Amino acid sequence: MIQKSYSYWRWPKAIVNYIKVYFQKCCIHGFKYVVEKMFTLLERFLWLILLVVSIYFCIVVCLSSIDRYYTKSTHIGLERNYHFWNTTIPSLTVCPMQRINESLFSDYCRKNGIKGQYKEEFWGFIENLANSTYKNFQNIPESEYIDKLLNVLGIKPALYMELIYNLTYDSSYEPVEKQRTRSIDGQINIHVRQVLTEYGLCYLGNSKLGEEYSSRYLIFGVYPEVNKYEQSRRLLKAQIGSFFEKDVGFTLLGFSSEAIDSYIHSAFEVMKVDNNFGYTEEGVVYDPESEEIIAEENLEKEATIGQRKCRFYHESNLTHFPFYTRNICQQECRINLAYKICKCIPHFYPNRSKQ
Ligand SMILES: *[C@@H]1O[C@H](CO)[C@@H](O)[C@H](O)[C@H]1NC(C)=O
Ligand SMILES: *[C@@H]1O[C@H](CO)[C@@H](O)[C@H](O)[C@H]1NC(C)=O
Ligand SMILES: *[C@@H]1O[C@H](CO)[C@@H](O)[C@H](O)[C@H]1NC(C)=O
Ligand SMILES: *[C@@H]1O[C@H](CO)[C@@H](O)[C@H](O)[C@H]1NC(C)=O
Ligand SMILES: *[C@@H]1O[C@H](CO)[C@@H](O)[C@H](O)[C@H]1NC(C)=O
Ligand SMILES: *[C@@H]1O[C@H](CO)[C@@H](O)[C@H](O)[C@H]1NC(C)=O
Repeated sequence: MIQKSYSYWRWPKAIVNYIKVYFQKCCIHGFKYVVEKMFTLLERFLWLILLVVSIYFCIVVCLSSIDRYYTKSTHIGLERNYHFWNTTIPSLTVCPMQRINESLFSDYCRKNGIKGQYKEEFWGFIENLANSTYKNFQNIPESEYIDKLLNVLGIKPALYMELIYNLTYDSSYEPVEKQRTRSIDGQINIHVRQVLTEYGLCYLGNSKLGEEYSSRYLIFGVYPEVNKYEQSRRLLKAQIGSFFEKDVGFTLLGFSSEAIDSYIHSAFEVMKVDNNFGYTEEGVVYDPESEEIIAEENLEKEATIGQRKCRFYHESNLTHFPFYTRNICQQECRINLAYKICKCIPHFYPNRSKQ
């Protein structure tokens, strides 16, 4: 019996003994008072609490500095040789107010047997649909005939944008130079593409964004064709200017309809529909000032998204867009809000949700 209890208590005793000896010899301040024979149990208990609390805060401080390293360690410095900086000229998005191409529309109607008054009614619908954004949804006419027609043609709301795309003429591919939507600066061509914006199909010039931001990619998921007309001269993606250059600019021209709506924004951004420079029927000259944030070359590789608190174009985690910019992120917020309120999303947004 005694023998048994002895063996039963042997290991715990050895462990307690070990801890006691360790605490006595330990050089960390405070440990030895926990096992000090002179102190009452209460005193030793108080010391124990003090020790636990101090170790706890020690760990908290360590973890918070690790966290700071991972999330707040971005270093911002200032370089002063601005004379040598190159700044990208802001980008221009132009939306023609006349959307649908009459000859493409007539072809479509001929193929589908839409005639006379019905053709006019359908034109009113599709033209206003193509020209709609948040401020003018009420202009889209509603009629029973249109509903029936769309049903017969098999055009569900998800196909609206595709139909509009098919009936819109992409004038940046126009063979006749005088009528082509193009961007030039003297003898240099600057790349122009048709893009899908919150205000329908528009043209974007002088942009640093990749070809994912184009109407074809967002609607069909394929890159736009190479524009051979643009390559007839030296082709730039975007104009850059530096301190020493007197006059840097570009001209975006070739819109068949007189009325246009234009948006100026950074060459690294997309347009913001609530930020337009006005509806106009004449040519306009803008003289913008531009500001550019530069980063060290290796910021992208050496810092994680959490550390630098920003995303590059290709680091998208958005649901509906395969690329990231701040305004695109806000568009996604509007998509989510529209979905929350109406249980549907406007036709001019790409819908890439899986379910
Ligand atoms: C600025 O642009 C000019 C002309 O394109 C180029 O020669 C120069 O190297 C650029 N400077 C910097 C700092 O990138
Ligand atoms: C398109 O919408 C704008 C803004 O509501 C309007 O001023 C313009 O006249 C519309 N275009 C057509 C062809 O209806
Ligand atoms: C309509 O599209 C045809 C090609 O299908 C083109 O030749 C014509 O110029 C376009 N019209 C307008 C007003 O853009
Ligand atoms: C648009 O055009 C493409 C190619 O011509 C065709 O496959 C597609 O069905 C058309 N979409 C609509 C909605 O008419
Ligand atoms: C994308 O990442 C950010 C953090 O960088 C996060 O706040 C946001 O919720 C993410 N968005 C989606 C759609 O996952
Ligand atoms: C988006 O597309 C998915 C799959 O094609 C579909 O199930 C869903 O209803 C669409 N969402 C909206 C809001 O149109």
